[in-house]
Amino acid sequence: ESIEKSGYQHFMLKEIFEQPKTVFDCLRGRLYADEGKIILSGIEQYLPEITQAERIIIIACGTSWHAGLAAEYFIEETCRIPVEVEYASEFRYRNPIVKKGDVIIAISQSGETADTLVAIEKAKEQGALILGIVNVVGSSIARISHAGAYTHAGPEIGVASTKAFTAQLAVLYLTAFKIAQHRQNISEEKYLMLCKELEAVPEKTAQILQLNEYIETIARKYKDAVSCLFLGRGYNFPIALEGALKLKEISYIHAEGYPAAEMKHGPIALVDEKLPVIFIATKDQYHEKVISNMQEIKARKGKIIAIATEGDTITPALADDVIFVPEADEIISPILNVIPLQLLAYHTGVAKDLDVDKPRNLAKSVTVE
Ligand code: G6P
Repeated sequence: ESIEKSGYQHFMLKEIFEQPKTVFDCLRGRLYADEGKIILSGIEQYLPEITQAERIIIIACGTSWHAGLAAEYFIEETCRIPVEVEYASEFRYRNPIVKKGDVIIAISQSGETADTLVAIEKAKEQGALILGIVNVVGSSIARISHAGAYTHAGPEIGVASTKAFTAQLAVLYLTAFKIAQHRQNISEEKYLMLCKELEAVPEKTAQILQLNEYIETIARKYKDAVSCLFLGRGYNFPIALEGALKLKEISYIHAEGYPAAEMKHGPIALVDEKLPVIFIATKDQYHEKVISNMQEIKARKGKIIAIATEGDTITPALADDVIFVPEADEIISPILNVIPLQLLAYHTGVAKDLDVDKPRNLAKSVTVE
């Protein structure tokens, strides 16, 4: 086992550190940013049907569901096709309205999650086109899908999903930009810019990973918190959910992810000097709004940990701790912003001497409903 960990203390850390390579592998042979070309051979044949879809329904569980939620934001923005994101376990039992012409995107690392499998079987019977975004080659969900794309992240051993998540996002970006270009929904200029931004993700991920030791010191500082709040807006709201999920899975600290502006309708009641609030505050169209949300937390003496864009001077003035990430287009920013949150969860779990690779009560693949 120690050989398989390649010198890392845990599989989770190894898998976090593999991400520059896994995202690169996922894009290799698919993205040619200079030529503005995206090749997704698994879905090419169905492209006319997909581009004419009246709506897309994304079905998944857990971390894969968060990848789906992130995709809702950028698919709608770039493709202008309405997207719904469904928990597989809810979808399968509620007599969902699905018809021919609907496209279902099923996202699953293992390809064996029982709820996801049954949900897509049901949608398939009702005439929808099923695209599978799956990591494990030849898995049940891969086999039952009409078409799809593998995430090529390699085996993921840590129960808490990390590299599979960023690979899912990478495939979802490719799919979105491909459809957007086909539908002529975005300008050639924006399409090329997004392709270039996506191509730069492995390199920027490697830069963020250099903050590992710094993030460890932050984790140690807050490891005894009883509860944490993760806030983000727009493209990064799903990343707030994923950051909270990672922390609770690995460190058993209660954590809630919330849209930053929605906090005033409830979670703000939790804020006191003992509550760490993690803000995803990278530069985007919501930045000023997020800053004012931060001021509201500071006024109530909450502790602020912020993910900010390099060069930002406003955020550090408000935050107790700042993690700087390289500048990126807001559409691409979620795949980068999740990296420090994975490290924060990991180091908090380690600081509490917990079994981060096998958290209690959780299973890597849930094959029962
Ligand atoms: C379990 C795992 C999670 C995973 C979820 C969905 O709960 O512990 O890490 O996100 O299942 O799994 P899937 O294989 O369908 O992505």
